Amino acid sequence: MSAVDPQSRVLSGMRPTGRLHLGHYHGVLKNWLRLQHEYECFFFVADWHALTTHYEDPSKLEDHVWDMVIDWLAVGINPGAATLFIQSKVPEHAELNLLLSMMTPLSWLERVPSYKDQQEKLRERDLSTYGFLGYPLLQSADILAYRAGQVPVGADQEAHVEITREIARRFNHIYGREPGFEQNAEMAINKMGKKTAKLYRGLRKSYLEQGDEEALETARALLKEQSNITVGDQERLFGYLEGTGKVILPEPQALLTPQARMPGLDGQKMSKSYGNAISLREAPDDVASKLKKMPTDPARIRRNDPGEPDKCPVYQLHQIYSDDEQQEWVQQGCRSAGIGCLDCKKPLIDAIQAELEPIRMEARELEDNPDVVKSIIAEGSERARDEAQDTLREVREAIGLDYR
Ligand code: TRP
Ligand code: SF4
Repeated sequence: MSAVDPQSRVLSGMRPTGRLHLGHYHGVLKNWLRLQHEYECFFFVADWHALTTHYEDPSKLEDHVWDMVIDWLAVGINPGAATLFIQSKVPEHAELNLLLSMMTPLSWLERVPSYKDQQEKLRERDLSTYGFLGYPLLQSADILAYRAGQVPVGADQEAHVEITREIARRFNHIYGREPGFEQNAEMAINKMGKKTAKLYRGLRKSYLEQGDEEALETARALLKEQSNITVGDQERLFGYLEGTGKVILPEPQALLTPQARMPGLDGQKMSKSYGNAISLREAPDDVASKLKKMPTDPARIRRNDPGEPDKCPVYQLHQIYSDDEQQEWVQQGCRSAGIGCLDCKKPLIDAIQAELEPIRMEARELEDNPDVVKSIIAEGSERARDEAQDTLREVREAIGLDYR
């Protein structure tokens, strides 16, 4: 078995909401595009999570799944670089969810802010279900099944990564305590060789006695380099650094998605449910007409009225798509009534069309070849499953469920 390096592993998921829009592209997807070259990435469709709120009407689920995958691929998420898969194709997520549920206090789930918030927001649905309460735990299982150390999410998901950390800590605390842990750890230290052993002991002492976080980091880096000890011993020594037990499930970090606030056509955040979105596969004519109809500074009623870009949603788009010079042109032209609003929108329309054209083409190609999309996902799901199976093997063993 090869050792997993949690720090270089990224996992993230999206609920299948159907076709994605420019807000997804400038927020989540551009971030994924960068990460896929820097980390070992796992990106998945959280179809079970969609069921927690839409269990009564799963009729669009399948279309939404494939539409989302097509959009990922169309923007350049590369199945050669990242592992792309569907949650429900990796049943180990469900097994880990179940095992973790045994030791997850109800109160931890009840106090996750999204629980009550969403229940209030989605009043028309009955969300007083076991599955909905368990939403963050399923998310924890998603993350921990891959021992991913980095989880790119928006700020709204930070609490879910936090509870994942608590659950991992609790799991390690309960199941990482094998009989004779200390002796095993000491033996493992000696296996690293004299010099390394001495270094490890010194760093561990600095952390345990003085809370020296840097020493902890250095010691972890040191352990990662050790190829002459087993994975089990490595886990022991990670845990021994903090004095607890083996680290079976590493605690993940949230990798906050940089806030690219993509304004919608009305200046509010772009969202399908606000009806202010431009989808990645929007037809060129619709892109143009939506932008032409976009409201501007309400004070600019006639062409001769000067306007104020800071009060105009069109200007917010310029801040994303236009260079400094062009933004300056807008500011001047608007405040002096030198340009009309359609003049102002023209370069924006061109920029968005140019951005969407290759995405649209690629998406069309994939729509015409559904088998290609399906085989990418089948392959990714198999790869993901191999990884999750490795974790589950260790988890079962730690709990004592590895009997035959
Ligand atoms: N809850 C996330 C969202 O709504 C989706 C998600 C499910 C997820 N499992 C995950 C994100 C694991 C990151 C890691 O956006
Ligand atoms: Fe908005 Fe541009 Fe019109 Fe000014 S000129 S109001 S920035 S659309």
